[in-house]
Amino acid sequence: MAIGIHRKTVAYIDKKAISTNVQQELKRLNENVVLYAVVKANGYGHGAVEVAEAAKKGGASGFCVAILDEALELRKAGFSEPILIMGLVDAVYADLIVLNKLSVAVSSLDWLEQASEIVKSNGCEEKLLVHIALDTGMGRIGIRTVEELQEVEQWMNKSKTTCFEGIFTHFATADSPDQGQFKEQTEKFNALVASLPFKPPFIHTANSATALWHESCSSNMIRFGIAMYGLNPSGGILKEPYELLPAMRISSEVNYVKQMKLGDKVGYGATYSAKEGEWIGTVPIGYADGWRRDLQGQEVLVDGKRCEIIGRICMDQCMIRLPYQVEEGTEVTLVGENNKEKISLQDIANHLGTIHYEIACGLSARVPRVYS
Ligand SMILES: Cc1ncc(COP(=O)(O)O)c(C=O)c1O
Repeated sequence: MAIGIHRKTVAYIDKKAISTNVQQELKRLNENVVLYAVVKANGYGHGAVEVAEAAKKGGASGFCVAILDEALELRKAGFSEPILIMGLVDAVYADLIVLNKLSVAVSSLDWLEQASEIVKSNGCEEKLLVHIALDTGMGRIGIRTVEELQEVEQWMNKSKTTCFEGIFTHFATADSPDQGQFKEQTEKFNALVASLPFKPPFIHTANSATALWHESCSSNMIRFGIAMYGLNPSGGILKEPYELLPAMRISSEVNYVKQMKLGDKVGYGATYSAKEGEWIGTVPIGYADGWRRDLQGQEVLVDGKRCEIIGRICMDQCMIRLPYQVEEGTEVTLVGENNKEKISLQDIANHLGTIHYEIACGLSARVPRVYS
């Protein structure tokens, strides 16, 4: 996809904010606990490589990604730190995983057997680094019973191709004030881990919400994602233990300004009728940029004033009601601060009835990311 470098619509990413969020979290952790920065999905839309750089500067010891290609992107960019692929990878790529010294989540003995054959047949000298996923109540991936876990452990104990590097689980409700499900999952996790005759080097359970609001089981690693980007995992329901600095600002411009007559229409479907004399501005961002069509009615900031998006959002443009005539080229802040007024990614998520994760990840490749 062509990146819109000749257009004023930009996502500004503050790498210092990312480093600071990581530093702040590290200060709260016990000495034996390491922080892996979660940079999957292009660093939640912020740019994986740049976020990884900023996180490393802040003290992250390793990285977590969701898919093999994301891990390879980091290796290609020169990162030699440990990288854990948290999602399931097809066993046929086991040799690529080993060659690139990656760690991978594993959910079954079948997978290990298949991967082991691939590793052997490719004559790989290094071992496959395995983190066993435990499903303690998320219902997504992972081993669920002591019997299955012991079978896997015994197999790995004898295996010459794999190294049992870690064991982990993922909580479904760590961002909720209700502790019931969290406690159940913790108990299940502890019981499963206790059934192992010896423990792997890494035991980990914490995403951002777990790290911020829960004593993390017997964990010695956290997988720090959304909070590193300066966003409250609970959507503001739970209070942050320290100030999270948002890393993303989205900005554009008013690139066309006109004064309307009473009843003049705006946008597809002609759903908006102007009042006499209203000033309408056009902003070059639309749903192809990830600025979703349902954001009709959301406000943006111009000269520190809140201006409503009126009419339907188009693929590449949208229209706003201006408080007065402004110069073409005037900045429009869609997310961030403008003359002391603020719109957060959380506000955008609230408008759409979703979570800020989705908005950040959904910002398309057409929008350039500019780093400071
Ligand atoms: C297994 C796992 N761990 C950690 C994370 C990071 O979560 P968060 O961004 O809420 O910190 C994710 C993200 O979805 C995940 O899937």
